[in-house]
Amino acid sequence: MDKLRITGPSRLMGEVQISKAKNAYLPILTAVLLNPNGITLREIPNLRDIDTVFRLLENLGVKIDGKGQTETYFNPANISSLEATYDLVKTMRASILVLGPLLARFKKAKVSLPGGCAIGARPIDIHLVNLEKMGAKIDLTGGYVEASTTGLKGAKLVLSFPSVGATENLMMAAVLADGETVIENAALEPEIDDLGNFLIAMGANIVGLGTKIIRITGVKNLHPTTYTAIGDRIEAATYLMAALAGEGDVFIRGIDPVFLESVISLLVDAGANLETGPDWIHVMPSSLKAIKIDTAPFPGFPTDVQAQLIALCTQIHGTSIITEHIFENRFMHVPELCRLGARIELKGNSAIIEGSTPLVAAPVMCTDLRASAALIIAAIAAQGTTDIQRVYHLDRGYENLDGKLRALGVKVVRIS
Ligand code: EPZ
Repeated sequence: MDKLRITGPSRLMGEVQISKAKNAYLPILTAVLLNPNGITLREIPNLRDIDTVFRLLENLGVKIDGKGQTETYFNPANISSLEATYDLVKTMRASILVLGPLLARFKKAKVSLPGGCAIGARPIDIHLVNLEKMGAKIDLTGGYVEASTTGLKGAKLVLSFPSVGATENLMMAAVLADGETVIENAALEPEIDDLGNFLIAMGANIVGLGTKIIRITGVKNLHPTTYTAIGDRIEAATYLMAALAGEGDVFIRGIDPVFLESVISLLVDAGANLETGPDWIHVMPSSLKAIKIDTAPFPGFPTDVQAQLIALCTQIHGTSIITEHIFENRFMHVPELCRLGARIELKGNSAIIEGSTPLVAAPVMCTDLRASAALIIAAIAAQGTTDIQRVYHLDRGYENLDGKLRALGVKVVRIS
């Protein structure tokens, strides 16, 4: 298993190009299943999770040409299977997002239950109860969701929680349903809007994107289209915090700062020197004071940036408090950060971080995608050489991470 060897401390200096968003392309890729016509997607990032969804689509019968190229072409005309098997779903929970499209187009789907993961149980009850309201018959047998319908019907759906995945599955299911579907308490994450814009580009009838109430009127047919997803706001936030941790000076290109409003306003309030433009953020050397924040659904502070913020808070002045409200076990990075000398105390779902802590290199291990990003930030700030093991967690969501860090002046090598 690969590991990354980082020698710190380093100040990040230079420019980084943000890749297109993993969490936008994952639902967009499953939405391809709705359409019998060819779809061209541009600048798909080279990530493990993307490879997994490519394998999943090919197992279902989608022909894919141009993997790794600027333009990738998908031909979903001849779907030969309606089953997403456990071996793929267990490596990537987002595979559950094939459920809505397969049900909508083929009236049948068999998808392995995703199971929990390192950060929590992550049930899919909100997905299933609302698909049933649209006329799906759902059976849970042998670790699989077996779903069928005589034809999905538009319905009024009120989500008990603004679940990102449930909103996405239901949007896709509604695109071909008979009549109007209203999704209330829909998630507001930018990736939801991006999926909606892609569905509209294929011919879907959707109003209300960017609001808590999304209205979708089913259509009979979809047409070919070419689409490019938005920049990855979580990748951008990760480089932003890595730069601030070492008082670096970094130009972050390819990200609309509106997607990071809660992150940027928190950091500016704490003293960060930032400038922004339509598709860039320039972070300059800053001296930050302690931070107190709670994670929340968009537009609140994103849970996917919580681990990276904790790593940053070990380097700023004062005692910071970060409280996690979205997932029940999303502090796996804390014991690993403490191995590097961080002084963090966990109280319930809050982490209390002593700032201005000199970090010292030590071997650490990745546990989940964003926890691993926290270890990268800490290793860059730490004195000495840190080996970060199980780097495959990082490769799930950060394109060319070591290459981008090296270009920013970080001493990092990948060791196989
Ligand atoms: C998406 O996961 C993201 N993944 C996650 O990013 C992100 O952390 C999460 O949204 C929250 O923003 C992708 O987009 C591929 P949810 P998702 O459904 O859709 C509970 C990363 O690091 N819930 O909004 O699974 C659930 O247990 C990943 O890139 C139910 O109870 O998130 C959790 O506590 C990690 N029942 C909360 O809602 C359901 O049916 C948020 O889950 C669905 C969710």
